[in-house]
Amino acid sequence: MTYASLRAGRGPNALVVEALGVLGGVRGRALDVGAGPLNDTRFLLELGFSVEAVDTDPCTLALAAEWRHPRLRVVHADVRDVPVAAGAYSFMVAIHVLPFLPRADVRRVAAALAGGLAAGGVLCCTFFGPEDAWAGRPGRTFLRAPEAGALFPRLEPVVLREDRYDGIDARDEPKHWHVVRCVFRRPTGSA
Ligand SMILES: C[S@@+](CC[C@H](N)C(=O)[O-])C[C@H]1O[C@@H](n2cnc3c(N)ncnc32)[C@H](O)[C@@H]1O
Repeated sequence: MTYASLRAGRGPNALVVEALGVLGGVRGRALDVGAGPLNDTRFLLELGFSVEAVDTDPCTLALAAEWRHPRLRVVHADVRDVPVAAGAYSFMVAIHVLPFLPRADVRRVAAALAGGLAAGGVLCCTFFGPEDAWAGRPGRTFLRAPEAGALFPRLEPVVLREDRYDGIDARDEPKHWHVVRCVFRRPTGSA
């Protein structure tokens, strides 16, 4: 069972809702990286965005095929291989996906995402901190809020906070979470 199959049909992530408040009433193109069960994608479609959803999981593709939504395009690929069009997106989501990449890849993908934001555009993303129960797993990246901020030097940090709590994972097993929640905005005056 993949994350997408376990978590389909739920509401949007709270950080996505918070980030949309930062964006205001702007719509346009959105990019959902590591879209999984498409819960955030569906919310963005309902709000009027055109959404490109990237994920390696065939389940994501299958969910989208059921919907046949005219403003949804699913890219069944590794985010590291997907070119991000410069300045194309007003809104970007990368929830619980960047921590699953090695640090050098996180840096590269973060730079690509930042470059894809339109002026005034908003990116929300999460990282896992070093106190997370999964910390130390090979091939993954764990970092604190200042390190997350440093990945996006040309964006303005609007939300940059660390939350620690005991919760459950996708399989409903207990897990200690240390999550870095970020919302960045591309300044309107930037080239
Ligand atoms: C923990 S899930 C989060 C899904 C979704 N963002 C959410 O919050 O509901 C992580 C998702 O990222 C996808 N993923 C992991 N590594 C990826 C990569 N390198 N490229 C694209 N998708 C990836 C997984 O298949 C999975 O669907």
